[in-house]
Amino acid sequence: MSTPPRPAVPSLSADAARAAAVAPPEEGAPEATPPDRLAQQQKSTASGANRHPHVLGPLSRLPALTALGRPPRILSFGCSVGHECMDLVEAFPGAEVFGCDVDPAALAEARTRCAGKATIFESSRSGLAEHGPFDLVTAFNVFCRYHQTAGHDDISPIYPIASMNEGLLAIDAHLRPGAVIALYNTPYFFEHTVLADRYEPSGCPDFPVNGWMEKCEGSGKRVSTVHFVAYGTRYNRDEYAKAMREQRLTLLDAPNISVEHDRLPDAEHFGSLYEIAWIKRR
Ligand SMILES: C[S@@+](CC[C@H](N)C(=O)[O-])C[C@H]1O[C@@H](n2cnc3c(N)ncnc32)[C@H](O)[C@@H]1O
Repeated sequence: MSTPPRPAVPSLSADAARAAAVAPPEEGAPEATPPDRLAQQQKSTASGANRHPHVLGPLSRLPALTALGRPPRILSFGCSVGHECMDLVEAFPGAEVFGCDVDPAALAEARTRCAGKATIFESSRSGLAEHGPFDLVTAFNVFCRYHQTAGHDDISPIYPIASMNEGLLAIDAHLRPGAVIALYNTPYFFEHTVLADRYEPSGCPDFPVNGWMEKCEGSGKRVSTVHFVAYGTRYNRDEYAKAMREQRLTLLDAPNISVEHDRLPDAEHFGSLYEIAWIKRR
């Protein structure tokens, strides 16, 4: 079975960078930051096991991945504590699974959880170069800044699309033509990002609504409001959050809980609510 050629390992040792990132800083000393570590997008490391079966199921059946003729090389970008890597191992039997993150504590836990199953590394340009290229990169709940942006009419002061674009370009450099990037729960539409003109939608009809964060135009202007429909009842965000705090509902329990986006009347630019996977053309 052939494996795609890997780029030469760059001079910065990813192991050294990784070790520096997870080692506890000496008292009073600033935390070591490897020079090419990627900027943090979402700050929260919240995650959970089996969080996205409704996304991973359709993703695992995409012809772009099943027709490869070899096990895919898959990266969970923003893997947090490693649950998503384990879900990928399950959803893609035989795949070579990687996970990266920028949060040292999450990385340490992910390494333990995924030992022998997936390779965990710090999210840096050199780490991506060392472990890529990838056939599929998932970034679920990563390209966002939640809950800080929730309810804002203009999220650009908190999370401008330029931040997302910077992360996307770093990933794109390690995706071969024909490879897939799967983005879930982003406030910005993929169509408005820097990658849009070089990728095409998978067209898969089986994906759920892409996320529960309000959608925004590239300018940062909010263009949707979100409702949750749980067991036949419609909740707004606050009602839904309250029900979760009181443990009456979980975050998502497909197909019993779904999300609806209502397009705001003055929305000029909208993208696809149902596309999650984008295939690189060039
Ligand atoms: C909310 S968690 C999502 C975890 C998992 N993907 C999931 O959906 O359950 C977001 C994660 O993205 C990570 N993250 C943020 N910016 C990143 C970057 N530039 N590279 C890799 N990970 C990043 C955060 O540190 C955090 O662990």
